[in-house]
Amino acid sequence: MTEKGLEHIPVLLNETVMGLAIKPDGCYIDGTFGRGGHAKAVLAALSSEGKMLGLDKDPEAIKVGQALALDDERFAIEQCSFATLSDAVSERLWQGKVDGILLDIGVSSPQLDIAERGFSFRKDGPLDMRMNPDEGMSAAEWLATAEMGDIERVLKTLGEERFGKRIARAIVETRETAPLTTTTQLAALVEKASPFREKNKHPATRTFQAIRIHINNELGELTEALQQAVDALAVGGRLAVISFHSLEDRIVKRYFRDQAKGDDLPSYFPVTADQLNPSIKLIGKAIKASEAELAANPRARSAVLRVVEKLA
Ligand SMILES: C[S@@+](CC[C@H](N)C(=O)[O-])C[C@H]1O[C@@H](n2cnc3c(N)ncnc32)[C@H](O)[C@@H]1O
Repeated sequence: MTEKGLEHIPVLLNETVMGLAIKPDGCYIDGTFGRGGHAKAVLAALSSEGKMLGLDKDPEAIKVGQALALDDERFAIEQCSFATLSDAVSERLWQGKVDGILLDIGVSSPQLDIAERGFSFRKDGPLDMRMNPDEGMSAAEWLATAEMGDIERVLKTLGEERFGKRIARAIVETRETAPLTTTTQLAALVEKASPFREKNKHPATRTFQAIRIHINNELGELTEALQQAVDALAVGGRLAVISFHSLEDRIVKRYFRDQAKGDDLPSYFPVTADQLNPSIKLIGKAIKASEAELAANPRARSAVLRVVEKLA
């Protein structure tokens, strides 16, 4: 498939590279390679001794990574979830030796723009939404079999969709006569089931987001990856996470806060903060895209970057 017109503009690029405080001879992992925008910026800051591993679930991202690996012997790519980062690290004997890890979570622009991937309600395609279409259940398969209560719960918790119950009921009623197989079919169903529209937001936005997060287990995989990433880092190594959704950012923020606080002892215990064995320290505050970046790339709108450094 030609990638013309399907570029991905990396978000918060300079902020991320600065946040990673690249060591030229260091060892880096990009857990969400995508089209390699961030990875190439990290490689540009590495010497010939530096090394970088890219991970992604998406076969199209892997093809781009394989082409880069042929061009640049410092780089390698592996198709897997970042939730299995520790396996990729152990295979290379990199445990406790990685100088920086980036997770730029969510979907890439090409995933949204290619109709066949089924991520977008604006494009007519099969209702798929899997980051790796060769693994797990597609959105259509899930919607064909899920209990109404489960669909409602997913729409409410992962999409904050207040009409979750009506939409879930409409899905279950519709599938009794014909299966839901396309993105436009689902978008039209949601539009019909929603009593009114939010300004500047298609009524299917929340439903698509919720189903995507659910079928890819995005929050569960993020939670698993954070601990593995911190474990993989060398002392002084950095972890940078860019999230695009408040539910994801909450997981990152809480995990970082708890790890930076250390052992959870009762407040009357006579210990100083460093005796609580914090595993990381926070580097600066959460960073959002500048006005200039937003003007050039509206998809950076909800991006939040958080960076931490491994202590011990
Ligand atoms: C926002 S894009 C990353 C873009 C990349 N930073 C760039 O500059 O091109 C997110 C990427 O993460 C991948 N992804 C999402 N969840 C993943 C997971 N659990 N494990 C590995 N890759 C994942 C997606 O397939 C997508 O390619």
